[in-house]
Amino acid sequence: MALTQGGSTRDGWSSRSAFILAAIGSAVGLGNLWRFPAEAGANGGGAFVLFYIGCVLLIGLPILLSETLIGRHGQASAPESVRRVASASKASPMWAMLANIGVLAAFLIVSFYCVVGGWVLYYVGVFVVDIFQSGLTGGAFAGQDPKAVEALLPAMFANPSLMIGLFVLFLAITVFFVARGVSSGIEVVATWMMPAFFVLLIAITIYGAFGGAFGQTIDFLFTFEPERLTGPVMLAALGQAFFSLSLGMAGMITYGSYVGRNVNLGSTSGIIASADTFVALLAGLCLFPIVFAAGLEANAGPGLMFQTLPHAFQDMPAGALIGFLFFLMIGFAALTSSVALLEVPTAWVVEKFRIVRPVSTALVAFCALFLGVLAALSFNVLADFHPLDFIPLFAGQGVFDVLDGITAKLLVPIGAILVSIFVGWVADRQLVDMENGLSGVLHFVWLMLVRFVCPIALIAILIVGIFPSLSQ
Ligand code: PHE
Repeated sequence: MALTQGGSTRDGWSSRSAFILAAIGSAVGLGNLWRFPAEAGANGGGAFVLFYIGCVLLIGLPILLSETLIGRHGQASAPESVRRVASASKASPMWAMLANIGVLAAFLIVSFYCVVGGWVLYYVGVFVVDIFQSGLTGGAFAGQDPKAVEALLPAMFANPSLMIGLFVLFLAITVFFVARGVSSGIEVVATWMMPAFFVLLIAITIYGAFGGAFGQTIDFLFTFEPERLTGPVMLAALGQAFFSLSLGMAGMITYGSYVGRNVNLGSTSGIIASADTFVALLAGLCLFPIVFAAGLEANAGPGLMFQTLPHAFQDMPAGALIGFLFFLMIGFAALTSSVALLEVPTAWVVEKFRIVRPVSTALVAFCALFLGVLAALSFNVLADFHPLDFIPLFAGQGVFDVLDGITAKLLVPIGAILVSIFVGWVADRQLVDMENGLSGVLHFVWLMLVRFVCPIALIAILIVGIFPSLSQ
């Protein structure tokens, strides 16, 4: 559908539900299924998870509404939208910088995100082969030792050309959708795939809940041990909340810019944040019983999802087929997110350099290709290349971890601080109130959160996260 603003016509979502689904599609992705369990495991469980939920409610949700309202008012790429809100509020156009930081973050993220997307494709392929070997009705990987199944991931990591090939394939699929434009490309994927994905995830979690170790999982994920809540754990939880909600990287400003006037941004933000958090928690409840039942390490890092899930399908009836379907769904969830990520820098290039969309998409993807290859190689030939060794926060980390860390732990919180100050203090009150769709107590609470809680909490968490000694 076309939205008309100031005489020019822009592509837009065809309906309110299409926007909600597309925004949920953007939010729900590898961040929930792959990154959340890995981060929760690496940061000790309960304290991280509960702090993460607090971040979603008190910081993520108000910023989500702030970002979408900037986009909807601006009806342009993220930096241009901020500039328009700034000019309507008689504020400095320099505020557009906040969105430029976001554009940079989205660009950095998409490059390593598509690397993980490539891993998903690998597992889709593995399950296709396995359907032929194990049959349609039996469990997956019939007769194979679980350790051999776990070894699939390191085997892929050890094969640089395979990893690069899969990464390029995933990036190419993303490019295809972004090049076609918002409503014809992104919407189709989101409308059909997201509902199917939810159903399958819930079914697999319920199945797994009967397999034992569920009580241990609940303890691990929800027991609050205050001594575990260190500065770095808080920053990791905050970064995860923002990564997962697609915030602080101009993603929701860009998506908000395709929303029509008739949509209530307050209630839709609530729906988007709830759906995203629900899927993350579900992913935790789905994966950790397998981790504990199989005696695996909770802090296995980026491989956690890929090494645990195949276990679940080993003794499940029709496990090979269900495993294939599930990884396919994860692939779609990842695709709706990578599309949203690539859309951010692409929309900016289209507008800034007046280059047609397909060419802009290709240009951005070409640059991402370069970084992504380095990220993929950091699991094998470049394992000892630690580009930011001189910065303690990134010491000893390869390109993949550095890209992830710079974005989730620096750029995204900084972007979010600027968004909250801009919407809370700088932007014209009338404009903001007209866009946000809130009234009464909710409006008051939102304003207090955006004005005071968000900037103060974000700055504090950023400081104790970067300088952990301050929090002890
Ligand atoms: N939120 C997405 C995920 O959890 C990642 C993402 C970030 C997508 C920013 C778009 C913009 O997988």
